Amino acid sequence: MLTFEKRTWANINLDTFRYNISKIKSLTKAKLLIPIKADAYGHGSCEIARISEELDIDYLGVAGIEEAIELREYGISLPIVILSPVFDFDIEDIIRYDIIPTLSDRKFTDVFNNYAKERKHVRDVFIEIDTGMGRTGLEYKKAFEEILYIKKKYNNISIKGIFSHFSTAEDEINQFAYNQIELFIKIKKKLKNAGLDDVIYNFVNSAALLRFPDMHLNMVRPGLLAYGLYTDISLKKYIDVKPVMSLYTRISRIVDMKKGDTVSYGMKILDRNLKVATINIGYADGFPRCLSDKGYVLVHGKLCKVLGNVCMDLTMIDVSGVDDIKIGDTVVVIGSSGNNTISADAIAKVCKTINYEVITRIGERVTRIYYDNNKPISIRSIANRIIHTKL
Ligand SMILES: Cc1ncc(COP(=O)(O)O)c(C=O)c1O
Repeated sequence: MLTFEKRTWANINLDTFRYNISKIKSLTKAKLLIPIKADAYGHGSCEIARISEELDIDYLGVAGIEEAIELREYGISLPIVILSPVFDFDIEDIIRYDIIPTLSDRKFTDVFNNYAKERKHVRDVFIEIDTGMGRTGLEYKKAFEEILYIKKKYNNISIKGIFSHFSTAEDEINQFAYNQIELFIKIKKKLKNAGLDDVIYNFVNSAALLRFPDMHLNMVRPGLLAYGLYTDISLKKYIDVKPVMSLYTRISRIVDMKKGDTVSYGMKILDRNLKVATINIGYADGFPRCLSDKGYVLVHGKLCKVLGNVCMDLTMIDVSGVDDIKIGDTVVVIGSSGNNTISADAIAKVCKTINYEVITRIGERVTRIYYDNNKPISIRSIANRIIHTKL
């Protein structure tokens, strides 16, 4: 039997991604930057970039130069912005692969401009202003002067975008987002008056896109929403998106165990007789160890509890209530079966984390199978990756 659905796999539904993008587009007239950093939030950045080109997305956002190079080598020609700070040693690749860096310090700007000048290029850049995230970007109190300085001094740099990032966008009680908005609006006005008119001003992520329609400005940057998840479930009232990814594994062993028998590392002692199945997913695949003795998966539509500790590659589950079970049966880890659904949010809740972490941690070992028009059209498997580049 030839199948791509081998040990553990994720289905990535491109029709659903298309649907989510159309929902987002219906809420805004602004340009669209889709963050595809962290392997497109675990979905696989190359295929997500390819479909983004087809959907006329304006920009892609990554976190580092390697992510940008991967996309260019795959043949992606959309403008790519590195949203995080970059380093002097990235400049050669930034120029070679035609990538847009975000400027964060004077020395980098100097070196970058010189590099572009030597090649007689004028290169686009983005600039971030820190309005309260306290993470990256120009310090707010120095930002106006610094941006004017960059505009005047550097002839081989063109300021294409100016942005900021929210700290509490999804929090409807905390008022801090309004402080950030006020600061950004103030500096944007000053910058426009100073001649920085033809610039893509952008601020909103997924949650802010929904909550602050007046802040869409020239471009929006929704990540999580595009992948069909919500930063907070209260945001569902604004838009209906659907998860793009579902995750599966298989049953590889079924045994009847007795009260007193032991399961997994740390020898969980069973307090009653149970039918125990082993499934071929573990924490190295992104099935978090914090699900030990707490999480659930779906077998034949029924919720089955994790028994004992999640191992690196394997996990044991209680299948006592499941009929006609056999080796090779599919197990739903994230997704629906029968009347039940397990979401990334449900896993996040058990693990006291956020759905972002659950999906971005789905391991490279998990084969991604891409569906378009309900048919598999491509796969990404470690069986096909280039393992080493000789230096
Ligand atoms: C600078 C920047 N913009 C946009 C996003 C997208 O955020 P979200 O996935 O919440 O929409 C991120 C993600 O962390 C980010 O760092």
